[in-house]
Amino acid sequence: MKLYTDYPLKDITTMHLDVRCKYFAEYSSINDLLELLNSAAYKQCGKSMHIGGGSNLVFTGDYDGMLLHSQIRFITVVSEDNNHVTLEVGAGVVWDSFVKHCIANKYYGAENLSGIPGEVGASAVQNIGSYGVEVGELITRVHCIDKDSGNAVTFDNASCKYAYRDSVFKNEIPPRHIVTSVEYTLSKSPKFTLTYGPLKELADNPSLSMQDVREAILTIRNSKLPNPDETGSVGSFFKNPIIDSAKFEALKATYPTIPHYPAANGKVKVPAGWLIENAGLKGARIGGACVYPKQCLVIANIDNASPADIVAMCRHVTDTVAEKYGIALHPEANII
Ligand code: EPU
Repeated sequence: MKLYTDYPLKDITTMHLDVRCKYFAEYSSINDLLELLNSAAYKQCGKSMHIGGGSNLVFTGDYDGMLLHSQIRFITVVSEDNNHVTLEVGAGVVWDSFVKHCIANKYYGAENLSGIPGEVGASAVQNIGSYGVEVGELITRVHCIDKDSGNAVTFDNASCKYAYRDSVFKNEIPPRHIVTSVEYTLSKSPKFTLTYGPLKELADNPSLSMQDVREAILTIRNSKLPNPDETGSVGSFFKNPIIDSAKFEALKATYPTIPHYPAANGKVKVPAGWLIENAGLKGARIGGACVYPKQCLVIANIDNASPADIVAMCRHVTDTVAEKYGIALHPEANII
């Protein structure tokens, strides 16, 4: 276990804000984690939270407590037959390195999630999704430590209650379970999801490989999303709102070209990026924060933004969208 004090968060969060935490603790095994949870430093730290790759977190100021980070890193085969393989992956494995591992071993299913920043543990909490696939479709079991008891607990897929960017873990207040590893079941025979608009044309290629899909996705991502190593952001800052059909019909009467997707229970999902752009906010700036012009769903730190700049921009976007369409936007990012 490693324990640091007064630790800078600028380089361990992709928004790259100049904030610090009182304690930062890293552990590399379950025993190490249990030791940390039993330590005087942890018991006396006041408040704590777990972080992954810091790619979905916005700290609005210094964090006066302990941040925990997993360095549990392994990928093992749990079981396999002719059609499927189940892999257990440590929570601290970088998500995209797991995707690359799957592609190298010809395990199908994760390639549409190429290029998503963050780590395996967070993938199971956040139900990350992109280009027609959500990780909850691949997860079979999530192994955790119950912080209150120190006991190991395993959740099967149904107990994770996966929904759009949502899971049982996200709704624990305060968070109780620390994900230590995740089991994913992948297909050993070609099985592509090419429903997302620009991917449809790949279906015409009879020798399509996972690497082709990965490259197409990385090209789309690079054209729309800032590179987190260069420009601070948390990817999508807002969730796409889900509205009832009457509200959608009213909206469509005014804006006939509004993109939309069916959601559960007859509701309709509309892209927050479109709502924001169509409200005239593309490129809007407050201090060092801006609405990213290539993808208005993103709030970017383009010039040493302060936490206050980001918060003010978030408020400006939600207020403008609420006023124009009567729709409440909710952050996808975790604002601390
Ligand atoms: N659009 C605009 N203006 C914009 C952005 C989007 O008009 O500034 C329109 C697009 O033209 C398109 C529609 O909105 O018709 C949807 O845009 P896009 O396909 O880019 O997807 P999204 O809904 O904006 C979601 C995820 C992304 C994921 C993509 C692709 C959420 C909150 N975001 O974005 O996830 O990569 O779909 O599947 O669900 C992330 O979570 O960090 C993330 C990037």
